[in-house]
Amino acid sequence: MSEPYEHHEYDVLIIGAGGAGLRAAIEAKQRGLSVGIVSKSLLGKAHTVMAEGGIAAAMGNVHSEDNWMVHFRDTMRGGKYLNNYRMAELHAKEAPDRVWELEQWGALFDRTKDGKILQRDFGGHRYARLAHVGDRTGLELIRTLQQKVVSMGADVFMECKVLQLVHDAEGRIAGCVGYWRATGEFITFQAKTVILATGGIGKSWKFTSNSWESTGDGHAMALWAGANLIDMECVQFHPTGMVWPLSVRGLLVTESVRGDGGVLRNSLGERFMFNYIPEMFRAETADSEEEGDKWYDDHNAGRRPPELLPRDEVARAINSEVKAGRGSPHGGVFLDIASRRTPEFIRRRLPSMYHQFMELAGVDITREAMEIGPTCHYMMGGVQVNADSQETVVPGLFAAGEVGGGMHGANRLGGNSLSDLVVFGRRAGIGAAEYIASGQAATTFNQSEVDAAIDAALAPLSRESGENPYDIQHDLQEMMQANVGIIRNAEELAEATKKLDEFTERVKNISVKGTRVYNPGWNLATDLPAMITVCKSVTLGATLRKESRGGHTREDFPNPSPEFGKINLAQSSDGGTWDSPINVVESPILILPDDLKALLEETK
Ligand code: FUM
Repeated sequence: MSEPYEHHEYDVLIIGAGGAGLRAAIEAKQRGLSVGIVSKSLLGKAHTVMAEGGIAAAMGNVHSEDNWMVHFRDTMRGGKYLNNYRMAELHAKEAPDRVWELEQWGALFDRTKDGKILQRDFGGHRYARLAHVGDRTGLELIRTLQQKVVSMGADVFMECKVLQLVHDAEGRIAGCVGYWRATGEFITFQAKTVILATGGIGKSWKFTSNSWESTGDGHAMALWAGANLIDMECVQFHPTGMVWPLSVRGLLVTESVRGDGGVLRNSLGERFMFNYIPEMFRAETADSEEEGDKWYDDHNAGRRPPELLPRDEVARAINSEVKAGRGSPHGGVFLDIASRRTPEFIRRRLPSMYHQFMELAGVDITREAMEIGPTCHYMMGGVQVNADSQETVVPGLFAAGEVGGGMHGANRLGGNSLSDLVVFGRRAGIGAAEYIASGQAATTFNQSEVDAAIDAALAPLSRESGENPYDIQHDLQEMMQANVGIIRNAEELAEATKKLDEFTERVKNISVKGTRVYNPGWNLATDLPAMITVCKSVTLGATLRKESRGGHTREDFPNPSPEFGKINLAQSSDGGTWDSPINVVESPILILPDDLKALLEETK
């Protein structure tokens, strides 16, 4: 039974207020559309801020040889060629304009001596390519976009959680239903288009750089609503998260530390990354410390140090060192910039890292090495979209940013997420405007879907006894970390599959005390169905992809397979509810046109 609740109507409703959502909002507003933005959290607080080190764009400010073609090639190689090539192409071509636009809107990037936007090195990028603001780039990007959105007058609904998308009678997207987190009052939004910009899923792992918001709501809601998810097995474990103290384990240590000269050492003091250079990157990776050091002075004299291999390679190497008993006291390895750069340089280039370690761990990184280890950071997989418009297979539904799939293939290069957000956030705004202009948008709103979503959300409050949502969340995080972590195998994935069925039953039996008002336990209870859906989706993809590629590593299938290299695993819901079975089909990856294929063969 439904109660009277608040209702709003927009041309474009955007769910999520990170970089992609805000950029989409600006585009839609510029096209004269009415825009609502719904954020589960506070405006300005999104996982976007955890892309600390920079935004990748081939502007050529530091190395004039850089251009979109090299960026495209780096992105495809980093993604182990599973990428949607068209997205990688658009991204590489359009990223520079998006950075200059941010500058015009007030972003204060660091500068070269001659006043251009400064760019720094990052893993897998041939040239220093990341425009940055110290190690707070994501924060500056959000601040800039947020100011622009507010000045343009979009409506922002903060601390408002969306439960489910709503269709019209013809199956087109017509809006969504949610509730205010503080009061528990329900709210509906009717809209001609919905853009999902909900970010990632990392909160289902124990050690993660993601904060409480990253529960995969957008991935799950898209699946339930009829969209496909691709590459869900491709989860990125960022090589460097804090490992100590335990209370902050997983907190990001930016890749900029390595980009600015930091190196990795094991407990014997060895720069072990020299032992883990894969064949694919051997020609361009230094094989001695001396040669690697020359790189920073002249990218054409030396070769890239192995600490700047793509993230999947570095994370696996760290994992192997720890497993071999050469780890640091708290189960990581050492990241050392103190012995390589002056204290003044470190404090200027890495101010957040300096404060983070000083305040949280009592470690002065200008004097001592940091203890770090891999942390769940990013979901490469996501909602299958049209590369140009970001539209899904469900009419009226668009997805941009981390919730979208395809751009990064099996592994994302650092810095490519901030550029992804603004390139495809803008394109989603244009796609939504064009869809509305075509006159195809929904005009009715399926009230029975609203009623069902509200009933399901209220159920935990009406059970006298049952499971505590915090116990389920804790056990789920432990289970995913243990069985669907950085290295996978058939046995552990089978265990995860079995456990996820048990978790499904436990979620159906959640009981929450109190009322809907200021009730974080109830809020979590409403997050758990999405968390279970995405964990099942990741586990299913990981079980079926019998090869190792990028962020997906199977110890029982340690090499890439040419056959799996030709397909994305596309998942769809068989029933449309959170506990429905998931179907999987092999979806052939797009074949590159010859001119783009030729770019991949270039070695420089
Ligand atoms: O390490 C970092 O600063 C993260 C960047 C990213 O994920 O793009």
